[in-house]
Amino acid sequence: MKIDHIGIATRQLDEGLAVWRDALGLTVDATEEISEQGVRVAMLAIGDTHVELLEALSPDSAVGRFLAKRGPGIHHIAIKVDDINASLADLKNKGARLIDETPRVGAGGCLVAFVHPSTTNGVLLELVQHR
Ligand code: CO
Repeated sequence: MKIDHIGIATRQLDEGLAVWRDALGLTVDATEEISEQGVRVAMLAIGDTHVELLEALSPDSAVGRFLAKRGPGIHHIAIKVDDINASLADLKNKGARLIDETPRVGAGGCLVAFVHPSTTNGVLLELVQHR
């Protein structure tokens, strides 16, 4: 397993890009709007993983609610898995509370599913299967 990316909630992507791209010098691999999840994302490569900057498309999206409650900061950690359905079934068997019982399409066309932070040490966990 590997860390696929670390998701960071920003009020505006430009605020995050000012740090991660302009000050730190990372390269933006892709910028994308995922309307189903109510976010715009920018993926920046760092080593063999990525930083995923998130901007809410509306205040009532998941990231919008996170920002209202906690402000900008680390939103989730994403782990790369080979078989997302098997990982979800396994986690469920072991008592994890799944936000997504079945995977959906996320950034870069990957299959993604979220696990609720209440059963993962307070960390929102995203599983990612690349296609
Ligand atoms: Co993510």
